[in-house]
Amino acid sequence: MSQSNPNPSAYDKLRARLVTESHTWLVTGVAGFIGSNLLENLLKLNQRVVGLDNFATGHRHNLAEVQTLVEPQQWANFHFIEGDIRNLDDCHRAMVFPVADATSSGRGTPVEYVLHEAALGSVPRSLADPITTNGVNISGFLNMLVASRDAGVKSFTYAASSSTYGDHPGLPKVEHTIGKPLSPYAVTKYVNELYADVFARCYGFNTIGLRYFNVFGPRQDPNGAYAAVIPKWIASLMQGEPVYINGDGETSRDFCFIANVVQANLLAAVAQEPGVVNQVYNVAVGDRTTLNELFALLRNGLVPYYTRLSDAKPVHRDFRAGDVRHSLADISKAQRLLGYMPTQRIDTGLAMAMSWYVGQTNDREMLVSRDMINSEENF
Ligand SMILES: NC(=O)c1ccc[n+]([C@@H]2O[C@H](COP(=O)([O-])OP(=O)(O)OC[C@H]3O[C@@H](n4cnc5c(N)ncnc54)[C@H](O)[C@@H]3O)[C@@H](O)[C@H]2O)c1
Repeated sequence: MSQSNPNPSAYDKLRARLVTESHTWLVTGVAGFIGSNLLENLLKLNQRVVGLDNFATGHRHNLAEVQTLVEPQQWANFHFIEGDIRNLDDCHRAMVFPVADATSSGRGTPVEYVLHEAALGSVPRSLADPITTNGVNISGFLNMLVASRDAGVKSFTYAASSSTYGDHPGLPKVEHTIGKPLSPYAVTKYVNELYADVFARCYGFNTIGLRYFNVFGPRQDPNGAYAAVIPKWIASLMQGEPVYINGDGETSRDFCFIANVVQANLLAAVAQEPGVVNQVYNVAVGDRTTLNELFALLRNGLVPYYTRLSDAKPVHRDFRAGDVRHSLADISKAQRLLGYMPTQRIDTGLAMAMSWYVGQTNDREMLVSRDMINSEENF
């Protein structure tokens, strides 16, 4: 941030404050897409971070990439624990940043702010295996609440989801009006909100739920059956494979670049006012993009890198079970109460994302070989 900025946002002010005062954070799901971006940003602000992940869907190469993006002394402020949120001991263990000095074993700096991202995402995954999704997303979530309560953290900010709006047809989506869940995944994310609310009432606990709307950006996994639409389509276009659109392509989403999500997390974590905490907030941009429009944006953005894509066309197939037809957020609550101001819209975000994916094709071999040599102790 420039110090001469005449109108600093709440986020500008928060970042300026954080670089001068180091706090201790826990990021669960730290090896995943959103978690690793939170890690990168926190380390760049000179914060101490404990990271917890079991690599169910996250990757060591995400952590390796963050290491290349921060200073060595900032990387030393990261302590990684390979563990599972379904194991309460792992959750308790993650509540302290250990001191490096071996003589003071068992002591360390307690975690102040929890950013809970670990979960099994994807609606189709939850339809294929609702039991595992339930175990991670509900039992694991409850473990994290209990461990955070026991550790007396200042706040517990968690990844909620726009899927909680379910079958409610209203647009834009406003936090207090939800419908019935359309998938097991949506049930788990709604139960998270119910548990967080109950912990606030029963234990005097500060929680904030951030209902993310289709987040995208660097380090989002393009591979696997449950990849999200943007990385999957970018990878397919780059590799010359067909891009499938489920349905007529007029399904719409409020796509949100990762930088906006990082901003919302940091603002939420430090919020303290009674009317602001123990709430859920939409985290999106407030723009609606259809899948047909998204395809055109991606194709046009990749043509400079791959000229053969200039006449690429998508392949339409059946609608997918569990998908909501339209999704568009009203973000005024987060703007008003958290001071959230998205800095990136879909076009600028996609340009950064595409440039990252194109760059990755060159680096992939290096990252894969790093995965083979890195073990838990390296992080
Ligand atoms: N990406 C989106 O568009 C989006 C939208 C709404 C909500 N969310 C939520 O945001 C959070 C992060 O999503 P993401 O896109 O970064 O996904 P991701 O799959 O990249 O990250 C999730 C991380 O959690 C880890 N994890 C899974 N099970 C675990 C367990 N049992 N113990 C410890 N770690 C475990 C995974 O290994 C992975 O690193 C999730 O809670 C997801 O439901 C994401």
